[in-house]
Amino acid sequence: MNATSNHHDTNSSDTNTLTKIKETKSDFDAALDMHSLDKHSLIDNWQQVRQQVDEACAQAKGTATDSVTAVTLLAVSKTKPAEMIATLARQGQRHFGENYLQEAIEKMATLKDQPEGEEIVWHYIGSIQRNKTRDIAEHFDWVQTLERDIIAKRLNDQRPDNMSPLNVLIQLNIDDEDSKSGCLSEQLPDLIAAIKGYERLQLRGLMIIPAKADNDSFARTKQLFEAVKNTHPELSGWDTLSMGMSADMADAVTNGSTMVRVGTAIFGARA
Ligand SMILES: Cc1ncc(COP(=O)(O)O)c(C=O)c1O
Repeated sequence: MNATSNHHDTNSSDTNTLTKIKETKSDFDAALDMHSLDKHSLIDNWQQVRQQVDEACAQAKGTATDSVTAVTLLAVSKTKPAEMIATLARQGQRHFGENYLQEAIEKMATLKDQPEGEEIVWHYIGSIQRNKTRDIAEHFDWVQTLERDIIAKRLNDQRPDNMSPLNVLIQLNIDDEDSKSGCLSEQLPDLIAAIKGYERLQLRGLMIIPAKADNDSFARTKQLFEAVKNTHPELSGWDTLSMGMSADMADAVTNGSTMVRVGTAIFGARA
């Protein structure tokens, strides 16, 4: 081996590294282009949403009679690529919401080695059939769409012992809409009583998707949320009211939401 060939080796490994970086970058760009949003617009959108939530939170603090805690932003990343999630995680976004189980599990595998401090908290926000409970219990940190005891029991039984209890929110059909999922207000006490008995579930609060042409759904949900808190002081984890999406997040926060679930305003329209 002479110096020249060594030099050549070094150059070719540099070239390989450069090609790799280029490939990674172009894969990334391709993934974003596919969703017609470049990286800077994505970060811009996210910062604007963060700001709107913070402003609504400050306003709520000024007017609310009870104390308003910080509002968690859940980025709804369903149908969006893992590259977008990684980009936002690097900016400090922690919570991501997914509706489609297979798609979510694939993204989790891609993003499992996130650097320290950029770990992702995964929320399941899709409908839950019985045959999905094991995968949900084994992969997610939160489930926001719990509406039936049979599903709660399965999630409890299937939550692995080496994981912390699964955080759950009861999805409430606050406007009694036939087309909507969620437990009805009158079913809420029984469902709470059942979930309280499940050691592998940690009941954190309520989630709603209100009727479109509305109304006072946010305020009524907040009242129910507070009523449960008062009548069940033993529910030590009861601290989350998940309401508000792209179109109504500020309104939801002003009405007491502690978690907004935002997709379109961050990632753009879904295909
Ligand atoms: C349960 C749930 N919450 C929030 C969202 C986000 O909605 P938007 O894109 O309007 O912010 C979705 C989107 O499908 C959803 O299914």
